[in-house]
Amino acid sequence: MKLNIALLPGDGIGPEVIDQAVKVSNAIAKKFNHSINWVTALTGAAAIDAVGEPYPIETHNICLNADAILFGAIGHPKYDNDPLAKVRPEQGLLKMRKDLGLFANVRPTFTFPSLIDKSPLKRERIEGTDLVFLRELTGGIYFGKRGRKDNGNTAYDTCTYTRDEITRLAKKGFELAMNRSKKLCCVDKANVLESSRLWRETVQLMEKDYPEVKVSYEFVDAVAMRLVQWPNSYDVLITENLFGDILTDEASVISGSMGLMPSASIGLKTSLFEPIHGSYPQATGKDIANPLATVLSAAMMFEDAFNLKKEADLIRKVVNQSLEKSIVTEDLSDGEKSYKTSEIGNWLSDQILK
Ligand code: IPM
Ligand code: MN
Repeated sequence: MKLNIALLPGDGIGPEVIDQAVKVSNAIAKKFNHSINWVTALTGAAAIDAVGEPYPIETHNICLNADAILFGAIGHPKYDNDPLAKVRPEQGLLKMRKDLGLFANVRPTFTFPSLIDKSPLKRERIEGTDLVFLRELTGGIYFGKRGRKDNGNTAYDTCTYTRDEITRLAKKGFELAMNRSKKLCCVDKANVLESSRLWRETVQLMEKDYPEVKVSYEFVDAVAMRLVQWPNSYDVLITENLFGDILTDEASVISGSMGLMPSASIGLKTSLFEPIHGSYPQATGKDIANPLATVLSAAMMFEDAFNLKKEADLIRKVVNQSLEKSIVTEDLSDGEKSYKTSEIGNWLSDQILK
């Protein structure tokens, strides 16, 4: 099969972890007789430095012409403490999500048996955790009306949702639940927010189309609590943009390291695959970042974008082998021997081609 993939390394550790996912994907292509055409494009601070904007039109066109997009990370500390910066790398990410219509962000949280004691939570709480958040990604307060008034002394951001936006996200949630344990949790704040009441009303109306799915409705503050108390009681969770942003960071530590969890953003025109972690500027260029979240995002890409399940499973298998043999980066090494980012990529690709 011919795979046309747009490659967006981005900022910070993005290029380093992306390199490993490319090595692994190329090994898979060799083993299964596929040919991958990688087209690299600029995003984030790297794009601002090169052409003055974080998501240039050239990059957008490359993404639109690709079958899938593999993305690293965005963000640079020089913008973080400058609230007056006119262009920011993150604007590129938001523009990319909006312009590509990437409305459903799939963020799984699962545990690796060999890493269970690395989690800050107790073994008995997290064993068997295997949940997926579907975070709405192109609406809500991220994209609502915002501004300043009273000479800049009052600021506002607004959260707006349409029934259609909720329906298309919830539909993905019901479909995913049907393929898993038929349990769906709608996370909202319907005791306070009008937009949350529309979420609840919309999802309630959809229940009749999926009679086998057992739906629960929970407030976001309660979910934040139960997520660390009994994560294995959840399966598929659907939620709006900002709640999903916060809860998926919380959920990601359950597995033991931020550097482990992949994600997919499903769109109207294409889909994008990226690690959940950010650009980790302190580690940039040091060859120490954990590449597994990006490698596992490539696995999601093979399965979801190209329907190549055997290829995806082989990637997951060699990742598990590396963890079992403690061939890990320093975030997982417990002061024992640790491996460089690039060494992990080499080991995984060698293992695939064995
Ligand atoms: C994420 C990130 C982004 C978000 C930032 C970088 C804009 O935190 O992908 O979760 O808030 O969506
Ligand atoms: Mn986030």
